[in-house]
Amino acid sequence: MRITVSVPATSANLGPGFDTLGMALSHYDHYSAEVTGSALQIEIRGEGEKDAPRDENNLVFKALKLVFDSLGEKVPGLKISCENNIPHGRGMGSSGAAVAGGVMLAAGLLAPKHQLTEQQLLEFATELEGHPDNVAPALFGGLTIAWVDDKGPHHKKLTVHRGISPLVLVPSNQMSTKLARSLQPDSVPHTDAVFNVSRSALLVAALTQSPELMMAATEDKLHQSYRAAAMPETSELISALRASGHPAVVSGAGPSVLVLEDDPKKRLKAMEMVSKKFSTWTPLALAVDFKGASLEGQSGSGS
Ligand code: HSE
Repeated sequence: MRITVSVPATSANLGPGFDTLGMALSHYDHYSAEVTGSALQIEIRGEGEKDAPRDENNLVFKALKLVFDSLGEKVPGLKISCENNIPHGRGMGSSGAAVAGGVMLAAGLLAPKHQLTEQQLLEFATELEGHPDNVAPALFGGLTIAWVDDKGPHHKKLTVHRGISPLVLVPSNQMSTKLARSLQPDSVPHTDAVFNVSRSALLVAALTQSPELMMAATEDKLHQSYRAAAMPETSELISALRASGHPAVVSGAGPSVLVLEDDPKKRLKAMEMVSKKFSTWTPLALAVDFKGASLEGQSGSGS
């Protein structure tokens, strides 16, 4: 039996929506799990080929095992293959994709005995990832609002306005999410909290119905300035883009930059500016992915 899943890259925060908003993008990792009955084998191609773990510490496997263990099932001998296209450590949701992918592979292997609900998929993925803003769009696609209460994580998926034309600018250096999170203060001024409440509410409107509001809607005072010193080139690029009217923000915990243009022509202008003045950054002109993680193929008789 072999199960294959494709999982989109994601950009979290989107400016003001720290740990809450996320968007799935048309750039994919592909993972497969084949039941072999023998010792665990992990094959990795592309990103992480040199340094990602090929044992039980592999994130796709860890997520898969979490689901099996939680449902009281024994993980069979598996061969896991990862074709990784999402850059690692760049704020494009590579770990969220690996976790979402592992959870989906487990769901595929355990069906029909266990039929996992969307809510269970999100709960398992959030348990391992720590916060839901990347795993929600990775699993379900589109623009997601994610929140956590005492019952666990929840999400609401929204359809993005058709003009939205995302551009991700990827540098060659990496940024650790753990380091980025350690730079956040424990409390923020009340005026900054109000600032972000207004901008994140506005961003939902801008991304779904009023893209002309995108510049104001992508302002933030909760995380980007605290992390700026750890990624000065990112800050510099965002300032230059915003000064020219391009709505640029840090993608996730960085160091990539996300530009949320409302028109492909404006995106082209942003790309031209970057190629002239910031030519070391790799531009990825992507679409919003509306599907999220999808099981692609399944063969064999199952268990
Ligand atoms: N919301 C998260 C952060 C996204 O900015 O720390 C990165 O995992």
